[in-house]
Amino acid sequence: MAIYLDTSNIDEIRKYTKMGIISGVTTNPTILHKEGASGGMKGLKEKMLEVARIVAPHPLSVEVTTNHREGMIAQAKEIAGWAKNIVIKITVHGPNGELDNMSVIHELETKHDIRINVTAMMSAQQCFLAALAGASYVSLLGGRVNNMGYNSIEEVKKLRYLLDRYQLKAKIILASTREILNVIEWLCAGADIVTVAPNFIEGMIVHPYTKETVQMFLADAAKAGH
Ligand code: E4P
Repeated sequence: MAIYLDTSNIDEIRKYTKMGIISGVTTNPTILHKEGASGGMKGLKEKMLEVARIVAPHPLSVEVTTNHREGMIAQAKEIAGWAKNIVIKITVHGPNGELDNMSVIHELETKHDIRINVTAMMSAQQCFLAALAGASYVSLLGGRVNNMGYNSIEEVKKLRYLLDRYQLKAKIILASTREILNVIEWLCAGADIVTVAPNFIEGMIVHPYTKETVQMFLADAAKAGH
């Protein structure tokens, strides 16, 4: 468990699953919209079922689309019922700081045995409280943290310390990846998982000097008549 793919693109998910590199997929309403989601809840179900099948037994995070208490619970139960490896994403609070989300997270994890990925978090303190509420995954949007002028690496280190000290089960996901450099930096700082858009993985693998080296090997093999 180290790298998740932050996309709903079936071809990309298949490609990197085949390489054995990814151990999960995350989505959110913005990603789904950008990647051409259609067909309402029925369309979402079809697409998520396909992704869940490809990545199984690894987890697929699917976000609820409402912030009303009863609506979040009903959607979480419905979506979690689509496949065994679906994890429900819920934002740490509502659009205006509503606090219902925390008790919803606690209830879903402890009473309904549904795995929750708490998202849209910008600090170690938010993630720590979500972990105390029982979340299985806490998503720190590291790129957004950096964009606001704060150091995401320091937040990861503090969070790692707190989860270990209080023996909380939550896995730390670093999201909002903006630079290839983020991936290794965040993992080394203590993140369990970094979720990335597919092009990041290609960028991590391909190196211009490696290209040149491979070209040299192939050219010399040809010269040697091998
Ligand atoms: C993943 O779980 C997050 O929802 C995602 O990485 C957010 O990315 P963004 O900050 O680029 O919207």
